[in-house]
Amino acid sequence: MSNPSLLILAGDGIGPEVMAQVTRIIDWFGDKRGLKFDVSEDLVGGAAYDAHGVALHDDTMAKAQEVDAVLLGAVGGPAYDDLDFSLKPERGLLRLRKEMDLFANLRPAQCFDALAEFSSLKTDIVSGLDIMIVRELTSGSYFGEPRGIHMEDNMRVGINTQRYTEAEIDRVARSAFELARRRNNKVCSMEKANVMESGILWRDVVTEVHQADYADVELSHMYADNGAMQLVRAPKQFDVIVTDNLFGDILSDCAAMLTGSLGMLPSASLGAPMENGRPKAMYEPVHGSAPDITGQGKANPSACILSFAMALRYSFDQGVEADRLEAAVEKVLADGIRTADLMQADGGTPVSTTQMGDAVLAALEASL
Ligand code: NAD
Ligand code: IPM
Ligand code: MN
Repeated sequence: MSNPSLLILAGDGIGPEVMAQVTRIIDWFGDKRGLKFDVSEDLVGGAAYDAHGVALHDDTMAKAQEVDAVLLGAVGGPAYDDLDFSLKPERGLLRLRKEMDLFANLRPAQCFDALAEFSSLKTDIVSGLDIMIVRELTSGSYFGEPRGIHMEDNMRVGINTQRYTEAEIDRVARSAFELARRRNNKVCSMEKANVMESGILWRDVVTEVHQADYADVELSHMYADNGAMQLVRAPKQFDVIVTDNLFGDILSDCAAMLTGSLGMLPSASLGAPMENGRPKAMYEPVHGSAPDITGQGKANPSACILSFAMALRYSFDQGVEADRLEAAVEKVLADGIRTADLMQADGGTPVSTTQMGDAVLAALEASL
């Protein structure tokens, strides 16, 4: 049987820097755990634009459709700010999500004990935090029509449309309920049903799916603005949060800071099951290309490494190895080895991206 296939799209900015550490870890699992992957690499975002004049080449898109999983670093950067909208690096990422139909974006926010003091919130508010945001990823205002900038009465008008079908809400709600059953059995659905019709439909459909098939799971509803406030007031009240594409983008960056740094948050973007029963999948850190620290060896590779752990769990049925990798990252942090984003003004010398990779590899080695 052939090895499972992985397509690595490191992208721009710190993307290649953090992905380089993941590549070492993939090699380690091949050498030491007999988990061999057929790894190929390609371009996305600004890197693809520089080479091909588009943010994602059709051949790369086709490859992404064929592999067992895609690992993505980050896209974007100031060099591409003035490009035509259709050519921007972010379009490459959005095309991957849309054409692979990766509708459920799992963004776990876990606060490792060693990092509780690095959160901008008080330690007791975040210590032990373990929540999962399920962000709808292929619809809503990111993709709704009509959209664009046009002239009306001699004035420019910018338009995006928040649009959700019943089927789109239904399937992401099911993903959230299924996850909750394997966690603490609670789902909080967030929208703005008080001002948006799409929010009313969202609430109705989530409630219907719940009543029909998941009545054993505890369901609550919250307006998304209150949700943002509750996330910083008392985040441990949540288990699974399910929300739309735009609210999910914002709420997950907010949740990132609960864990100490945006450099810690991984994600899995999952679609419908393929022929082999596994979901179509792309694994991507929540953070972006971090132009302010690019090329300085400062980037925290943890989010990208933990995204690979999610790949082991959700695409390759290697829960034990995923646990091993997560434990290795946790051990390194507990030992006080940290990149600059996790340093307090007065404390210690940060390690570089590569040194953080070295430390995770050493912890993996010690786990054998
Ligand atoms: P960003 O996530 O790139 O950076 C926000 C802040 O967090 C910066 O101060 C950065 O230094 C810090 N940071 C982020 N990741 C870090 C890491 N791994 N280690 C240490 N510090 C880290 O967001 P931004 O500055 O708003 O966006 C920059 C570019 O990235 C934009 O072009 C944006 O569109 C793009 N972006 C891409 C993705 C993605 O590819 N998935 C996600 C978000 C933003
Ligand atoms: C994210 C990013 C992307 C988004 C951008 C880069 C398209 O912010 O993955 O959170 O808005 O979805
Ligand atoms: Mn975002």
